[in-house]
Amino acid sequence: MSNLKSILREKIEDWRPRTKRLLEEYGNTVVDKVTIGQIIGGMRGIKCLVTDISYLDPNEGIRYRGYTLPEVFELLPKPKNAEMPYVEGLLHLMLTGEIPNASQVNDLVDEFSKRRILPRYVYEVIDAWPCCSHPMAMFSSAILAMARESFFAKKYKAGISKNEYWDPMYEDSLNLLAKLPEIGSYIYAKLYRDGKRIVGNPDLDFGANFAHMMGKPKPYDDVARMHFIIHADHESGNVSAHTAHLVGSSLSDVYLSTSAMINGLAGPLHGLANQEVLRWLQDLMDKMGGDIPTEDEMRQYVWDTLHSGQVIPGFGHAVLRKTDPRYMVQREFSLKHLTDDPIFKYVDLLYKVVPPILKEQGKAKNPWPNVDAQSGVIQWHYGVTEYDFYTVLFGIGRAIGIVANLIWDRALLYPLERPKSLTTDMLEEMAGIRDKNLTVDMQDE
Ligand SMILES: CC(C)(COP(=O)(O)OP(=O)(O)OC[C@H]1O[C@@H](n2cnc3c(N)ncnc32)[C@H](O)[C@@H]1OP(=O)(O)O)[C@@H](O)C(=O)NCCC(=O)NCCS
Repeated sequence: MSNLKSILREKIEDWRPRTKRLLEEYGNTVVDKVTIGQIIGGMRGIKCLVTDISYLDPNEGIRYRGYTLPEVFELLPKPKNAEMPYVEGLLHLMLTGEIPNASQVNDLVDEFSKRRILPRYVYEVIDAWPCCSHPMAMFSSAILAMARESFFAKKYKAGISKNEYWDPMYEDSLNLLAKLPEIGSYIYAKLYRDGKRIVGNPDLDFGANFAHMMGKPKPYDDVARMHFIIHADHESGNVSAHTAHLVGSSLSDVYLSTSAMINGLAGPLHGLANQEVLRWLQDLMDKMGGDIPTEDEMRQYVWDTLHSGQVIPGFGHAVLRKTDPRYMVQREFSLKHLTDDPIFKYVDLLYKVVPPILKEQGKAKNPWPNVDAQSGVIQWHYGVTEYDFYTVLFGIGRAIGIVANLIWDRALLYPLERPKSLTTDMLEEMAGIRDKNLTVDMQDE
């Protein structure tokens, strides 16, 4: 048994009594009241999910297993001569809550290397997509096609004790994660490089092998590691994480659940926003004929966008109320590597001018930049200029947190998710604007 799996088994055995006790002894303890605004308004802020993999504080940003992002980047082991840590180490942290040592990470790099070969039919599924298809649709279908490989589905069919559900989920998760760089880079080759695939190198780690298959030289390996790590998890309520949890709660396997999460991530209000930032900035670059705008010109462009009824992409957040630490990690990297890039100069200007404008406008609850304000710009700088592909990169990173959650969901036997819905009539009765017996709108009387 791998080192990671045996550590995880111990953690699971220790954790189970805590969940059991909460359910059995404190199941009726009231945690929060729910308003009609929350019921209609996308369930914002309702505390009804549990995860120990990450927690999003509105003012501080994300913590993975209690560690802030700067701590994660400082503490996780790094490959030789690399600025950014091994992605594999993050999986160990997310699964066990412990920072792995160098030998544990090397074990995991080997495990990934053994599991990375993609079945032939996955290339064929990607090849079968008609031209002009979106890379996220291809990505989702490639993952879905591999459901036939699911170890969990086979074990479940054969009959397996509930207490052992997490074990085949673990196997499926590692098998899937190890293949995602290959799937992503093949979609890239298929769509933007005339199908010319670069064969993976089994001696490289997750991030470096992805950079190699994308055909991008150093420091794109560090860009890939940074990108995957900062996008890995944002607690459980966001669309992609919640989708995976919901689908997984019906005991769907890792492939079915992860494919579903990719579909949620593909929406413009979620993972697609990173490409919007670049589209919007390049529109301004065209208007400026390539010159760098003054602060006044940038302010005018931001106001023009707002006056035309559009949002400023890359700013605002449903939960965060401060600058996103994921933005800051990328900003620090950019200040080191991208200072001469004109697009970074634009982004730098936006960092100064947008928050005061959004505050003055007074609508956005959070005027500060989020992760997407910076990520596309870095990709563009290193030659990944095809906007549509950016969400695939997000998806590869997000899958790390998704599988960590799915394994623990099974370990703690979280049940089928099934919230209760009400009718509009019922809500009106509760609000006191409809008489239950008369079934007539009281305002009409
Ligand atoms: C992320 C986002 C969808 C969160 O939405 P939300 O939780 O509804 O945000 P708020 O509660 O702050 O929205 C209140 C109002 O401020 C507006 N607002 C929020 N962010 C804004 C922005 N970046 N630019 C302009 N207006 C914004 C909203 O559109 C809303 O206006 P309305 O009352 O006319 O509908 C939103 O901030 C947004 O659209 N940002 C730009 C897109 C983006 O960067 N998405 C990636 C997020 S990681």
